[in-house]
Amino acid sequence: MTRKIGVALLGLGNVGGGVIKLLEDNAAAILGRLGSRLEVRTVVVRDPDKAKRVVDVDRALLSTDVDAAVRRDDIEIVCELIGGTDQARTAVLAAIAAGKHVVTANKALLAEHGAEVFAAAERAGVDVYYEAAVCGGVPIIRVLREGLASDRVESLHAIVNGTSNYILTTMAETRRPFADILREAQDLGYAEADPTLDVSGGDAAHKLAILVGLCFGTTVDVNAIPREGIDMVDPIDLSYAEKFGYVIKPLVIARDHITAVEARVHPALIPANWLLADVAGAKNAVYVHSYALGPSMYYGAGAGMLPTAMAVVSDMIEIGRNIFARAAGAPRPHRPRPVEARPMVAIADVVTRYYLRFGVHDQPGVLGQLMTILGAHGISIAQVVQDGAPGRRDDDQPVWVVVLTHEAREGAVRDALAVIDALPIVAQPCRVIRIAG
Ligand SMILES: NC(=O)c1ccc[n+]([C@@H]2O[C@H](COP(=O)([O-])OP(=O)(O)OC[C@H]3O[C@@H](n4cnc5c(N)ncnc54)[C@H](OP(=O)(O)O)[C@@H]3O)[C@@H](O)[C@H]2O)c1
Repeated sequence: MTRKIGVALLGLGNVGGGVIKLLEDNAAAILGRLGSRLEVRTVVVRDPDKAKRVVDVDRALLSTDVDAAVRRDDIEIVCELIGGTDQARTAVLAAIAAGKHVVTANKALLAEHGAEVFAAAERAGVDVYYEAAVCGGVPIIRVLREGLASDRVESLHAIVNGTSNYILTTMAETRRPFADILREAQDLGYAEADPTLDVSGGDAAHKLAILVGLCFGTTVDVNAIPREGIDMVDPIDLSYAEKFGYVIKPLVIARDHITAVEARVHPALIPANWLLADVAGAKNAVYVHSYALGPSMYYGAGAGMLPTAMAVVSDMIEIGRNIFARAAGAPRPHRPRPVEARPMVAIADVVTRYYLRFGVHDQPGVLGQLMTILGAHGISIAQVVQDGAPGRRDDDQPVWVVVLTHEAREGAVRDALAVIDALPIVAQPCRVIRIAG
């Protein structure tokens, strides 16, 4: 008789519904690869009487009792798809304490409580898998954990928030302002009713914290990751970026500094001929630079019902294989990498290139003043454009002076800008966007 693995599904929303659908649609393939069936034996929701669900499930499977579900004797894998950090943390820790393996898609949970969750799993001797927590269906966790296990990641640049990428892509195509595109994205269901976490960089910071742990074997305080949202990007910046041969993308960046790690979240100018520049719409991509492989890139759907469910079910299959391997007496196939605490590079010490857009009064000698102050702070200039924006010549409007710098220390740039922004010639504070790639 075919062995069955009992699964408790916590949550039947977009991802939970996708899991049910995928387990049905791909049942034969899953049986072939695992040699066993993954059988959902209970589905926990908030409201079992909810009129509209992503998929129909047998009413008898529905429950509202998380605690009872994770303790059931016939459950081997608990799949946490309720989201949030409070109830999800309680549920996951209860499942681990009951000796169940866990699959979760919850980046917020792992970014904020990952150390606690993994330590509990280690003590209990159970697996915690989370492929869907970063970039949805793109199997980047497996790549970093297994594909590059013999390599050493030096740096990572990634687009991990589909909503931000969709908005910036549409802004670049239409040159319409951020607020308009965001409203449109909400109407189309591409952005949440409360989009703060997506557009402010908070969601991306959660994912970056997880990636940093995998890449560099260290934990970072997610709240300490410097972040800027895409709401600071103006269509005029997209026009200037294009003039200089760049596009603007919502990036997360991580770099190994051996004794410290660099991690930051912000929109960045990247060269228009770089692979990441072609990652459009809501797609995600991770560009990794590692010692042995060199550059490699992983691209695909970072969200959505079936792409995300695919990652969740693949995790269940891997846990199923681990269960069988252990039953056969094989050693544990993997343990989390040793975690050592390393400090984060302060944003003032980050060295990168900058796009600076100065809004100044149209007076003689302005350019000279700007260059003198930048030079005095050790910031050298790669390119300058003065008021190149099409159709602008209005005495009330500032003149734009746009500067691309060579590499400079962020602290020096901020000091120079504090001096410049206080000058009488300045009509509005300088817009700063970092350059990457
Ligand atoms: N959506 C995506 O594309 C995507 C991509 C990657 C990762 N994720 C992650 O996947 C997780 C789930 O996302 P989702 O989009 O599927 O969310 P969702 O559509 O809002 O569904 C959440 C589900 O959890 C249930 N639930 C919420 N709180 C509960 C509680 N305290 N007790 C019992 N059930 C509870 C809800 O029950 P009711 O149905 O009764 O309301 C609902 O079925 C989140 O951590 C999210 O960050 C999502």
